[in-house]
Amino acid sequence: MIPIARPQMGEEEKAGVWEAMASGSLAQGPRVRAFEEAFAGFIGVEHAVAASSGTTALHLALLGYGIGPGDEVITVPFTFIASANSVVYTGARPVFVDVAEADFTMDPELVEAAITPRTRAILPVSLYGLPAPMTAITQIAERHGLAVVEDAAQAHGAAIGERKSGTWGAGTFSFYPTKNMTTGEGGMVTTDDGELAERIRLLREHGMKVRYHHDIVGYNFRMTDLAAAIGLAQLPKLPGYNERRRAIAARYDAELQGVITPAVRPGVTHVYHQYTIRVRERDTFAERLKERGVGSAIYYPIPVHRQKPFVALGYGNQAYPVTDRLTEQVLSIPVHPSLTDGEVATVIGAVNEAAAALGPLEREAARQ
Ligand SMILES: Cc1ncc(COP(=O)(O)O)c(C=O)c1O
Repeated sequence: MIPIARPQMGEEEKAGVWEAMASGSLAQGPRVRAFEEAFAGFIGVEHAVAASSGTTALHLALLGYGIGPGDEVITVPFTFIASANSVVYTGARPVFVDVAEADFTMDPELVEAAITPRTRAILPVSLYGLPAPMTAITQIAERHGLAVVEDAAQAHGAAIGERKSGTWGAGTFSFYPTKNMTTGEGGMVTTDDGELAERIRLLREHGMKVRYHHDIVGYNFRMTDLAAAIGLAQLPKLPGYNERRRAIAARYDAELQGVITPAVRPGVTHVYHQYTIRVRERDTFAERLKERGVGSAIYYPIPVHRQKPFVALGYGNQAYPVTDRLTEQVLSIPVHPSLTDGEVATVIGAVNEAAAALGPLEREAARQ
C-alpha cells in the first residue's frame, strides 16, 4: 500500500538526537534556541518561539495578543479542530466564516460582515500547504485594528510572492510527523513583533524570566532539546522535500482526469502538505484506490462546527455551504517526497481509473 504519509528520518536526525541525549540537555536548552534562530531565518522573521505542539503554538499566539473571555476570533470551520480549540482555550469565542470554493481557504469577502465590537483577531488557516489570502485578510485586520494569527501548521515554506507563510502578524507551525517537516511533536510561533515574542516566551515558561520568579500565570508549553535536534536536522532538508512535493503535484495537475485538482492563485507557492482532489462517490472512490494499493485520507470528514464539542457550544445549526460541500467531496492522495516516480504513476493510474468508472466531477457540477 502506498501510504498517505511517510515521515523521513535520516542519519542526521539520529546523530542530532544522540548528541542531545549524550549532552544531558534533554528539556528546553541550546538546541531549542538554535532551532528557533534557524527557523526564523528560514521564514524571514525577527523572532521564532518554539512550543510543544502546533496547538500550543496557536494557544500561545492568541494569549500573546491578550485574547480572552468576552473576545471573538474569526476563523474557518474547514480545518483541523485545533484552529478553533485554541480560541476556546483562551475563553474567547470562535466565529466561523466559510472558505472559498476555489482553494479551501478563508473567503476574505465574508470576513467584514463577521466583525463585531468584540472581535479581536482573525485566524485564517493555510490549509494543505496553500497560504490563505493573507494580504487581503491583513488589510481588513488593519482597517479594524485586529490581530492576525495565521495557522500555518501545514504551510512550512509556502509563500505569496516572496513572502512566506508565518510573516503576517503571528504565524504558527506544527511539526507533527506527517507535516512537511517534523520534530515528532512540536510547534513554533513566528513574528516580527518583539514584544509579542517576549510575552509568548514568558507564557511558555510559567511566566518566568528569572528562575523561580514568576511574573504571570503561564504554562509549560516548552519544546525539548531532543525534538529541536530533529528539527535542526530536518530544516535544511525542507526546501528539497517541498520541491519534490511540488514536482509530484505538477504531474498530478497535468495527468489526473475526471476529478477537481487543487487551484493555486497566481504568484502563490503551494507546498502541498496534502494534494487534495474533489471526487464523486468518495467512499467507493477511496475503496477503488485501496484495491489498487493506493492509500488516501479525508481531511476532514466532519467540519469543526459539526464536531460534538462545538455542537454542544451551539454551533451545530450554523450553515457553511462551501465547507459542507467540500466535506463531502475532498480526498487527499499521497504526495509525500519519498514517493518514487513509479508510485506516482500508480497513483495517477488508480485515480484516473476510479474517476472513469464513477463518472467525472466537473467544477460546475461540484457546486450543485
Ligand atoms: C491546520 C492545523 N492546525 C493546527 C494543528 C495542530 O498541530 P499539532 O498537531 O502539532 O498540535 C494542525 C496539526 O495537525 C493542523 O493541521
